[in-house]
Amino acid sequence: MPFEIVRNDITKMKVDAIVNAANNSLLGGGGVDGAIHAAAGPELLTECRTLGGCETGGAKLTKGYRLPAKYVIHTVGPVWQGGTHGEEAALTACYRNSLELAKQHACETIAFPLISAGAYGYPREEAISVAVSTISAFLLQNDMTVYLVVFGRESLVAGRKLFRDVQEYIDDVYVGEHLDAYRENSRRYSWRRKAAMTEELELMAPLENISYGAAAPMLTPDAAADLDELLRKTDKGFSETLLDLIDAKGMTDSECYKRANVDRKLFSKIRSNPQYKPSKPTAFAFAIALELDLNETEDLLRRAGYAITHSSKFDVIVEYFIVNGRYNIHEINEELFDRDMPLLGSGTF
Ligand code: APR
Repeated sequence: MPFEIVRNDITKMKVDAIVNAANNSLLGGGGVDGAIHAAAGPELLTECRTLGGCETGGAKLTKGYRLPAKYVIHTVGPVWQGGTHGEEAALTACYRNSLELAKQHACETIAFPLISAGAYGYPREEAISVAVSTISAFLLQNDMTVYLVVFGRESLVAGRKLFRDVQEYIDDVYVGEHLDAYRENSRRYSWRRKAAMTEELELMAPLENISYGAAAPMLTPDAAADLDELLRKTDKGFSETLLDLIDAKGMTDSECYKRANVDRKLFSKIRSNPQYKPSKPTAFAFAIALELDLNETEDLLRRAGYAITHSSKFDVIVEYFIVNGRYNIHEINEELFDRDMPLLGSGTF
């Protein structure tokens, strides 16, 4: 997954580079700066002394020493002064310059803390949105795996209006496992009773054997004809349908998989294997990338062997964004992350 939000201590991340939220002296401090220096050992400070400091928004690279990461990229975020002193531009430069420096050193993986969101007082929600928008813009043009590391139990989105809207939708739509199955079966039961009253269907199976998880109801001749039509249309699997939809939407393959937060390797596996069965988050991710409506999404998922169910919070959250036409996959992942759900993209479910 090219862009992943993770809950971790950045000093533990085994990546090519971790980014340090340093100060202009580069001679260490508290917060993540202090943690990185403590974990890397004294050689880090010795090398930092040779760098001659760093301007705000700039980025400088050192070795990682005792850290599991090969490099440390030191960047200096802006101190928040109300938002009218070029803070957003400086913070954007931190992420962009760090990513460019990582690219120059052939890094394939990099981990960021939330720069300036601690001692430098940058409002958390704005700091997150600068990080997500700068990183995702870079990933549309470059292949790299970027982790945004959230420390401890910090929340990403709580307090946002969107968070409350999503929560309301979950409260309205999400039902527990049994309640949903019960509703499904009681609907089937009443449908079959009605159908059994009409003579065309006197050969119905005896009604008393209705039970939880009963097989799908028998179809009326018309419904059966519709299903035949449907089955004829759905002989294409997930992979072929995905490629058809990419063409129909006038997108390139890379545009689609990057917007789906899926890496190139996985996409080429899907493209080369008509029988490929993606994970549910990956199937959903492509529906978001293609900006499919709910019916189109259900159809695409069905071809991967999945259905949208209201007894899965994950499905309900993604459904919220689809029915509201909000197709920014990173915005969805922030909501999923904060509810400890799998993220959309090339992940396992
Ligand atoms: N791993 C990941 N994230 C961490 C860790 C850690 N081990 N420790 C802290 N953080 C998070 C904080 O929770 C915060 O969200 O890093 C984010 C940045 O917080 P700070 O470290 O305070 O950095 P910043 O706000 O940019 O202030 C930089 O603080 O430590 C000094 O020398 C540093 O003067 C500089 C200033």
